Parts: sequence; C-alpha cells; structure tokens
Amino acid sequence: MYINCSDKELLMLNKIAAAAEKMQVPSYLIGGFVRDKILGRKTKDMDVVCVGDGIELAAAVAALFSPEPEVHFFKNFGTAQIKIDDLEIEFVGARKESYSRNSRKPEVEKGTIEDDQNRRDFTINAMAISLNKDDFGALVDPFNGLNDLDAKIIQTPLEPGITFSDDPLRMMRAIRFAAQLNFVIEAKTFAAIAAHADRIKIVSGERIADELNKILLSPKPSIGFDLLYKSGLLKLIFPQMVALAGAEYVDGFGHKDNFYHTLQVVDNISRNTNDLWLRWAAVLHDIAKPATKKFEEGHGWTFHGHEALGGKWVPKIFAQLKLPQNEKMRFVKKLVELHLRPISLTKENITDSAIRRLLFDAGEDFDALMTLCEADITSKNKQKVQRYLNNFEIVRQRCAEVEENDNLRNWQPPITGEIIMQTFNLPPSRSVGDIKLAVREAILDGIIPNDYNAAYDFMLQKAKELGIYAVNS
Ligand code: CTP
Repeated sequence: MYINCSDKELLMLNKIAAAAEKMQVPSYLIGGFVRDKILGRKTKDMDVVCVGDGIELAAAVAALFSPEPEVHFFKNFGTAQIKIDDLEIEFVGARKESYSRNSRKPEVEKGTIEDDQNRRDFTINAMAISLNKDDFGALVDPFNGLNDLDAKIIQTPLEPGITFSDDPLRMMRAIRFAAQLNFVIEAKTFAAIAAHADRIKIVSGERIADELNKILLSPKPSIGFDLLYKSGLLKLIFPQMVALAGAEYVDGFGHKDNFYHTLQVVDNISRNTNDLWLRWAAVLHDIAKPATKKFEEGHGWTFHGHEALGGKWVPKIFAQLKLPQNEKMRFVKKLVELHLRPISLTKENITDSAIRRLLFDAGEDFDALMTLCEADITSKNKQKVQRYLNNFEIVRQRCAEVEENDNLRNWQPPITGEIIMQTFNLPPSRSVGDIKLAVREAILDGIIPNDYNAAYDFMLQKAKELGIYAVNS
C-alpha cells in the first residue's frame, strides 16, 4: 500500500476491493484522502471512484458488513455514501464531465479513470490508489501530483481556464489549499484565476462563505486573503475589505495601509485563537476606516467613530457574506464596537472606574476583546510594539484586580427595575429606567460601593431628586 492506513481503514479498503472484484469494476481511492495521507495530515472522508456504477458498488460494500449500514444515494449525481463507525465513504462512477456555462451542475457522462482524473481540480487532488487485485495499493498519478506535493505547488491537471470554467468554486479552493497547506499557486493557474474571477458569480454565497471560513481558519490566513485580493476575487465577494487597501499622503502625513494592517491583526490573533468568530472580528475591526477617514490640517489622518460605524455594518456584511445572523454575529459586532477601549486605557492614568466600565461593557466577552486588542498592536517599529504590549499587560493586570474585587463581568446591578417599581409604587416607566441607570452608573463610577444597601440608599436619594418618594416613607 502506497499510503499508511490504520487497520480499520485497511479493512474497509479490502472490503471495497472484494466487492469491486466481484462486480468486475475497477476501483480507486481518490482525492483528498490520498493527498492528506501522503502529507501526513489528519484524513476525513474516503472518496472511491469506480469504472462502473458507484451506487451499486456502495450497496455491494454495505452488504459485506453486519449490521448492514444504510446507503444514502443521489441518483441524479450517481453518488452514494455509507458510514461505518466514524468512517464515511463516498462512491461515484468515473465520469467525463462537462459543465454548462451558467451552473455548477455537471452533465455527467461515463468515463475511464483517466477521464475522471482529468476532470478533477488540482494535480494533488487527482492522485488515486488502486483497489484492484493486480496492483492493490499502487499510486496512480498521471499528472505527477506527488511532485507538486513535494514542491508545494497547486496547479490544475488540464489547462487551468478549462478547470476553472468547469467549476469556478475551484478558484476559491485553490486559494484555500494554498492557505491551509502553505503551498504556492503555480503562475499559469493563478493567472487563470485572475482571468476568470468574474465567474465566481455563478457560485452560491454559502459555498463561498464555506471556503472563506476555511481560509480564515488556516494557520496564517493572510496568505489566503492576499491571494483573494491579488486575484481580484476579494473585490467581487467582499469589496468593503478591498476598500481598506492603500495609503494616502497629504503634507507629508501618511496612514497605514489598513488592508495589510488588518491581515497582520488576523495573523496575530490566529496565533492565539482558533475561534472562527474572533478571527472574523479581527477581519472586521477596522472595516469602517475608509468611510470615516478625514485629513485634519496640521494633525494628520483620523478615523473617528470607525469602531461604532464598523459595528453597525456587521449585520449587513454578515448577511452579504451568508454568515449567520445569530449570537455569533452579535459577538463580532460587539467586539468591533469595543475594540479601541482596552488600548485607550494604556494612554491615560487608568482609573478604577474606567476599568469597571470596560469589564461591565465587555461582560463575558472580555477575554476575547483583550485578545483582539492585543493582536491589533502592529507597527514596523519593534520597540513601539513592545512598549504597547507592556502597557497592555498593565491594563490586563489592573482589570484582573478590579475584577477580583467587583466581579463585574457577569454583573447585574443590585437594584432591579422590579425593586424600583415596588418601592415607589411606579408602573413601568421612564423614571424607573432613569433611576436604575443612575444606580448602575454610580457603582461603575465608584461613587458608591457595589453592594445592596449602598445602592438602595442611592436609589432613594436619586428618586427624591426626581420628586419621587417611597410608598411607606
Ligand atoms: N473536487 C473537484 N472539484 C471540486 C470539488 C472537489 O475536482 N470543486 C474533487 C477533488 O479531487 C477533491 C475531491 O473531489 O479532492 C473531494 O472533494 P472534497 O471532499 O470537497 O475536498 P477534499 O479535497 O477532500 O478536501 P477537504 O476535505 O479539505 O475539503
């Protein structure tokens, strides 16, 4: 066997080989499983291609197991799936595919194994392992994918224009593999992506989102985003991010290229978290900088309010990118809105009340916010970065101290609306909200301690100022 398989995998391959032999259909293990085994990566599903009917082969393989697994099949596509424990195997008949111009759905025609390999996306994904009696386990590699794996190159088996017009999602896949594997896209293949970028329009937003998320979850996402940018794809799928690119100079004042700054922040944060949504917060933290950019005479460039505007944009951008409209989106929105707060505390004398406010506003997302903010410290000047990081560490410590005393992260002020309504016999009204807010602010500002009695007295006093008195006083 050319690749190293576990006992369980080998047992499965032997059963497939036995069923295929009985049916007299040549069969091969193909695609990502072969690629990842050779690379020594963790493998996911097995793909099996046979020169015959994939659904029939799946049924024959299933029949060799007891209890017999269910065969899920898609007649239109000629594919079938079975699952044994955690091993998923997909079967398909070898095909010559021709895609129509306006859809990703191929018109399928039966073909040989060579035809099938021709129609695959990249040489590294077109390698097959024979499951046939004469050469069981041998590598069948007509495009020298093995060489490309070694040289870390992504290229198409056919003329790249054909491969990409067949299925434009492959343009995103090329970039995604480059990012995941840290490979280089071969020049002609990359030029074809740039030339056919426009065809991404026929791909569904959900599939694009899936690839974008995989790029963002790769070890160094800047590789993928930079390729998306340089190929012209990013402009088509996420123009707001492209608007961050470039630096302008007036009277000798320049500003950072916010696109490359953003990529740096995304790479920084990716060293500290695998949380997709926290990584999205890094992508989006400065998204409204172009829209808020102003040149102030004698002072330079400002981006006032970009955090608030950026936060406001998050739901719209998530909808545009077919990302969810749920608590994940709200988490990203909150982080974008708050991303300047921790760093602003390094610039002034930090008061306990400023720290309390940050802890309260960030709540359970405080750690995530600090991770984002730390990643946002970028500069070509290493000493400057170090100074900021040191100051930032001080903020972290102060936050930890205040948090230990006041426990504000999941804090609810001790005086609730209910208490106010009962004490003053008030219906739900503006005054109730005003009193509640005043009590909360007094605690956060350190005017009164964070305990019930102090808050109750303050509530009475505040109400008195508004001409409201307790019912039994
Ligand atoms: N494939 C293709 N064109 C596509 C999608 C898939 O040619 N647009 C082929 C490739 O040979 C690929 C195989 O189908 O290796 C399986 O596809 P898939 O499971 O989507 O991807 P993997 O390569 O297995 O990689 P991953 O699981 O990381 O997505």
